[in-house]
Amino acid sequence: MPHLMFTKSFTQQEPLPEEAIENAVVLMRTGRLFRYNTDAEAGDAALLEQEFAAYMGKKFCLACSSCGSSLYMALKVAGVQKGDTVLCNAFTLAPVPGALENSGAQPVFVEIEENNYTIDLADLERKAAQYKSRYLLLSHMRGHIADMDAVMDICQRHGIVLIEDCAHTMGAHWNNKKSGSFGAIACFSTQTYKHMNSGEGGLLVTDNEEYLAKAIILSGSYMLYEKHLSRPDKAVFEKIALDVPNYSSRMDNLRASLLRVQLRNLEAQCQRWKDLYHALAAELAHTPNIVLPSRSPKEDFVPSSLQFSIENSTPQNIRQFLKTCEERGVHIKWFGEPKPIGFTSSYKTWKYLGLTQTLPKTDAILAKLCDIRLPLTFTTQDCTLIGQIIHQAAKEILA
Ligand SMILES: Cc1ncc(COP(=O)(O)O)c(C=O)c1O
Repeated sequence: MPHLMFTKSFTQQEPLPEEAIENAVVLMRTGRLFRYNTDAEAGDAALLEQEFAAYMGKKFCLACSSCGSSLYMALKVAGVQKGDTVLCNAFTLAPVPGALENSGAQPVFVEIEENNYTIDLADLERKAAQYKSRYLLLSHMRGHIADMDAVMDICQRHGIVLIEDCAHTMGAHWNNKKSGSFGAIACFSTQTYKHMNSGEGGLLVTDNEEYLAKAIILSGSYMLYEKHLSRPDKAVFEKIALDVPNYSSRMDNLRASLLRVQLRNLEAQCQRWKDLYHALAAELAHTPNIVLPSRSPKEDFVPSSLQFSIENSTPQNIRQFLKTCEERGVHIKWFGEPKPIGFTSSYKTWKYLGLTQTLPKTDAILAKLCDIRLPLTFTTQDCTLIGQIIHQAAKEILA
């Protein structure tokens, strides 16, 4: 049988909606791109914050330059001081340890589960007690959502402040509750590969007045915080304004204008991602030596990518399999390479943290873990074909 081939690009996103492009052009003609360069009218950044907070059912939102910068600010406003331990699941991406390092925290990584790549709750419980940490930065990495009822229970019992990294869970739910509405603070990404695309960008949400006021000032508001629509009363700022530095991590009106249009269509886009995932998963479900994560019926995930584990295979085998898929047009990333490649670093490669921890369970999982991007430029037929190519290559090489 001839080899099947796939020819589309795994990095090609959809164009932005025409309305977003038109709005951006109108805004560019005004020249008022800086978020505080407004008179009495509300700028796009301020309006986006109001709209995203409403979407999330949260009191407040702050638009930032990236999710990584918003995570860093979240840690700061939650009170992390130099040397404080912060718990974090070990399966995450480089901006997360970067935010931890930037905040001065001492990260304590928690193992992950083999069957669904989410945080290992027993290890979380153990380390919460052992380190007496007051913070958990929970990264819903690649859209995999842990049992949030159990996570919240652990946090409550140990007096832990939860910060959610929702870079991959915009529009997702656990038990009908939005991902990002569990923690004291949650941070989202609007970088190109995420669920809304402004090139770069982050959205921080919280119900806590003081956290939000501090975050606005940290993000670089030059005492212009009254221009924010999504904010607490002036008095909250006045209490802290002179004690909080300016880290210049704002979002501009141009990017916000692109996101406001996309937010209105987010639910429909989420459904399209789910359809792509299920088309590919259906092919992989019966592929030898390939195991998909098990997903709780309570987890309503919005996958912009798909992960699977390769069983019974040596690293040489896996490399050969990935090479064969690549030659047939299917680009798969692998978390098992000892060196970080593109978007697949692992905690062992974050040398700047000076970690002494070992995480044997996570190591074994990452050694088998693969990752495929699913841009919305793909159709469900494309995903079926990708699945068939992987199936064919797995039968030739992994079986
Ligand atoms: C899990 C995770 N958290 C945080 C981020 C940071 O997002 P940003 O690129 O907007 O800083 C990323 C980026 O891809 C990510 O994958």
